Amino acid sequence: SKMLYNDQIMERDNVIDIEDRGYQFGDGIYEVIGVYDGEPLMMDEHMQRLERSARELRLTLPTLVSDIKNKLEKLVEANGLVEGIIYMQVSRGIASREHGFPHPDTSAVTVAYTREEKRETSLENQGGKAVLTDDIRWLRCDIKTLNLLPNVMAKQKAVENNAVEAILHRGDIVTEASASNVFMIKDGELYTHPANNYILNGITRRKIIQLCDELNLKVNEQTYTVNDLLNADEVFISATKLDIIPILKVDDHVIADGKPGEITNQVLQAFRSLYQ
Ligand code: PDD
Repeated sequence: SKMLYNDQIMERDNVIDIEDRGYQFGDGIYEVIGVYDGEPLMMDEHMQRLERSARELRLTLPTLVSDIKNKLEKLVEANGLVEGIIYMQVSRGIASREHGFPHPDTSAVTVAYTREEKRETSLENQGGKAVLTDDIRWLRCDIKTLNLLPNVMAKQKAVENNAVEAILHRGDIVTEASASNVFMIKDGELYTHPANNYILNGITRRKIIQLCDELNLKVNEQTYTVNDLLNADEVFISATKLDIIPILKVDDHVIADGKPGEITNQVLQAFRSLYQ
């Protein structure tokens, strides 16, 4: 299959320099974009978030995001991708290893590839289990950086417990999950952590909030505690390609009656109508 390397679509190859700052420091940013029926979903929103991540890290993108977008669409076409994801990242570039920023002439390195991936419809319909774990990440979780070790460690805990996700909490407050956002529902209203420095403002999360508005469902962008989560009527997670997955059990605690909830299902159907 083909990959994107800077502005070139080429055969996927081992082109990563050992002094790429993404490789050595995790000094870079990324996006994962869902592709449904050959079409990237919410590409503009992903590109805007990429721009913001770059700005917050003072990383100069080598081209306009409109050019990157163009190239990503060409890559999807070149690979004949129908159902799957685009992974793309931009590192601060290749330079002699020093922690401080490299010389301003160093250009950022963009790479992207696609992966064919079937949708997890059975998980979306039937739901899964989550584990709780401490949120030990830095205080700029709003930036989609390549530094993912705390997320890796958290997700591994989920994997080892046959859970779909690890839900993170900072003290008593539920923030998000290792690679998704968390919503809980109580008395007919949705709650999700506000979009500040403690979470990544998911593109899926934002779309859900918009869809709920259209469905006349109230979404409170408010913090809530682990105890609130365990006593919720419904819980679900959201992320690119996973879309929405009902969470039926958190650690050993069954959520409500242990079945996917009505509101979760309503939101899932609305989300599916974006691409079906
Ligand atoms: N992860 N929170 C975190 C920490 C994430 O890594 C992600 C996405 C999300 C959901 O964001 P979005 O709806 O924009 O996908 C929330 C991607 C999919 C990943 O790292 O693979």
